[in-house]
Amino acid sequence: MIIAIDGPAASGKGTLARRIADYYHLALLDTGLTYRAVAYEMLQRGWPLDDEAHAIAAARQVDLGALDRETLSAHEIADAASKVAVIPEVRRILVEKQRAFARNPAGAVLDGRDIGTVVCPDADVKLYVTASAEVRAGRRLRDIESRGGRADFAEILADIVHRDERDMGRADSPLKPAADAHLLDTSEMGIEAAFLAAKAIVDDAL
Ligand code: C5P
Repeated sequence: MIIAIDGPAASGKGTLARRIADYYHLALLDTGLTYRAVAYEMLQRGWPLDDEAHAIAAARQVDLGALDRETLSAHEIADAASKVAVIPEVRRILVEKQRAFARNPAGAVLDGRDIGTVVCPDADVKLYVTASAEVRAGRRLRDIESRGGRADFAEILADIVHRDERDMGRADSPLKPAADAHLLDTSEMGIEAAFLAAKAIVDDAL
């Protein structure tokens, strides 16, 4: 059983993916972390984000078993990740690792931007999770504040809109719902309601 969950930044797909993986006892891969790991290496080394040769070398080094969410969660890393994610060879290398993960005999949930369209086009269930940019910015702001940080709503909103444009506008594997994806707009849904809606879709496919 493979469940593909795609959607834009802060749509709630990560939380939903975790809930579904726990509920159905499936392995979980947040594929955004693989792009973030490449970006992190580039930033640490001081390499420009459009330095393709170094980005490709960094992609080869990505170890799915050693992705540290804590280190990779910073907001600058998210932005840098969307820049290295436009490089086709970086995508090819990471997609290969993600497909190997998806072959887990126990089944897997993968979340990202191109899981239903490129990484696992034969997934048993595809969900495309979205919410308005304003709702997503509000969630991101509350998340930052709940961890004691401070941020500006307008700035977060601008970042989200900008990253959406980059992810949806790139030539290789742009963010878009697969033709056979179930759309889940969580703008007016809490996580519990979103989980129940997703569970109904998955149960239906079992
Ligand atoms: O999901 P997350 O915010 O961690 O992803 C960071 C960036 O990595 C995204 O904005 C996107 O550019 C890229 N990404 C991607 N394909 C995926 C997952 C993430 O291009 N499957």
